[in-house]
Amino acid sequence: MGQGTDLNGDGVYDVAALVGSLRRESYNRGLLRAAQELKPEAMRLFEVPIGGLPLFDEDLERDGDPPAVRELKAAILAADAVLVITPEYNQSVPGVLKNALDWGSRRYGTASVLKGKPVAMMGASNGRFGTARSQLHLRQIFPALGMRLLPQPEVYLPNAADAFDAAGVLTDERARRQIEKLMGSLLDWTERVGGGI
Ligand code: FNR
Repeated sequence: MGQGTDLNGDGVYDVAALVGSLRRESYNRGLLRAAQELKPEAMRLFEVPIGGLPLFDEDLERDGDPPAVRELKAAILAADAVLVITPEYNQSVPGVLKNALDWGSRRYGTASVLKGKPVAMMGASNGRFGTARSQLHLRQIFPALGMRLLPQPEVYLPNAADAFDAAGVLTDERARRQIEKLMGSLLDWTERVGGGI
């Protein structure tokens, strides 16, 4: 632990983003776009799509991971860190995200690709609590997956509809500053705890 390996050795940390909403005009995907704008230069941030994953089923798994699952695992394996950006559904983690984490928690070769990965999270919701309750559940889930959660800063965007303009650009200055700080902290965290199980 703590080697901070840049897995592909190109001097840039690769961060795989999982977005817990499939909605076309998702505020959470809007947060991802803002993070892509505000991240440090020494970081590449790309979305790994999770909407095409089948529902987790041990029988399917026994027959061999379906292609979408193999793609998910390969993308996470190659990444230096993970960023989870998610809304809150019924005070918890949306099923589509939990499904991706369940698939990702299973072996790819000898181990889970999530095990030992640095991870950070943030979320936007239309409610007053800005995904605090789904993030609390993620705080319980990540250690079960062996992931290394960046403890702070915590980024919650409540009343998301007011924070974006008509083109889906995050205009809330406070949220933008928080995201910039989160991405810088994720870079430091990846250097400190990344690079191996
Ligand atoms: C919601 N929403 C919601 N919001 C919240 O703050 N707390 C909650 O518990 C819930 N629960 C919930 C359940 C379901 C099934 C849906 C569809 C929605 C509202 C949610 O914050 C809003 O739809 C966001 O816009 C979802 O994020 P995206 O899709 O914009 O990224």
